[in-house]
Amino acid sequence: MAKPVLLFLLSLVVTSHATCPRDSNNVRNQENQIHLLRPITGAAGRNIPEIDCLSWRLAVETYNLRNWGMLPSSCEDYVGHYMLGKQYRKDCEAVADVAIEYAKSLKLSGNGKEIWVFDIDETTLSNLPYYARSDVQFGALPYNATRFDEWVATGDAPAVPAVLRLYKTVLALGIKPVFLSGTKEKLRQSRISNLNKAGYRKWEKLILKGQNEPHSSVEYKSNKRTELVEAGYIIVGNIGDQWSDLIGTNVGNRTFKVPDPMYFIS
Ligand SMILES: *[C@@H]1O[C@H](CO)[C@@H](O)[C@H](O)[C@H]1NC(C)=O
Ligand SMILES: *[C@@H]1O[C@H](CO)[C@@H](O)[C@H](O)[C@H]1NC(C)=O
Ligand SMILES: [Mg+2]
Repeated sequence: MAKPVLLFLLSLVVTSHATCPRDSNNVRNQENQIHLLRPITGAAGRNIPEIDCLSWRLAVETYNLRNWGMLPSSCEDYVGHYMLGKQYRKDCEAVADVAIEYAKSLKLSGNGKEIWVFDIDETTLSNLPYYARSDVQFGALPYNATRFDEWVATGDAPAVPAVLRLYKTVLALGIKPVFLSGTKEKLRQSRISNLNKAGYRKWEKLILKGQNEPHSSVEYKSNKRTELVEAGYIIVGNIGDQWSDLIGTNVGNRTFKVPDPMYFIS
């Protein structure tokens, strides 16, 4: 599901530079709502070298940099190339490889209480078709909740292939998946159909955010995990794209972080 979408986006980015005159680029850009990326090298008028964006991404992924709000606009091209190119997918596959190795090494009790917590956005499902739009620009434009919710309501987000592979392994091992997401409760039906469409068809729980939950994701997710533990579940694994998915209380026996240089959620 995801690969054709991403390859389509990528091929648009690659071929449009080489073959299309400026005007047809613009037409195509509007029709497909895909922001065209400028080449990484020779970005005229930009004096911030690419390496700064690589260092910036490392700082983001290691949680050295926090509460960064919006992607620096000078790194929009870099992040766009990273997300649409091979590296992002390779990095996700590498995370899934270690997570799968760990899951397979577990001695399960057989009592059906072992669970694996999956975040949804940019972990289970990819919003890349949304983030690549010209009115979003990989997070270089301010977040617009209305616009994002409209996208979520379409139920068209593809799976992150590596995480779908982890999910299938976890299920086959007898560990029950629990989805824990900051998605609003009112979008439950869209999320269910989206998960099904993307290949996630079974779960123990799908926890979405009700109206009276704490604003902080760390607090919200910690509370929900605590409820799971109090109900007798053992969180053997936990995977997310945000540090706020993986810190707080009852984070689980092991946590796994997939990359996300597009936005920060505290
Ligand atoms: C947010 O998105 C909605 C829906 O696309 C749009 O109508 C609105 O103008 C946007 N708000 C801002 C501040 O850009
Ligand atoms: C997982 O964590 C629980 C709760 O902290 C602990 O009781 C259990 O021994 C841990 N299991 C493994 C395999 O480390
Ligand atoms: Mg997420």
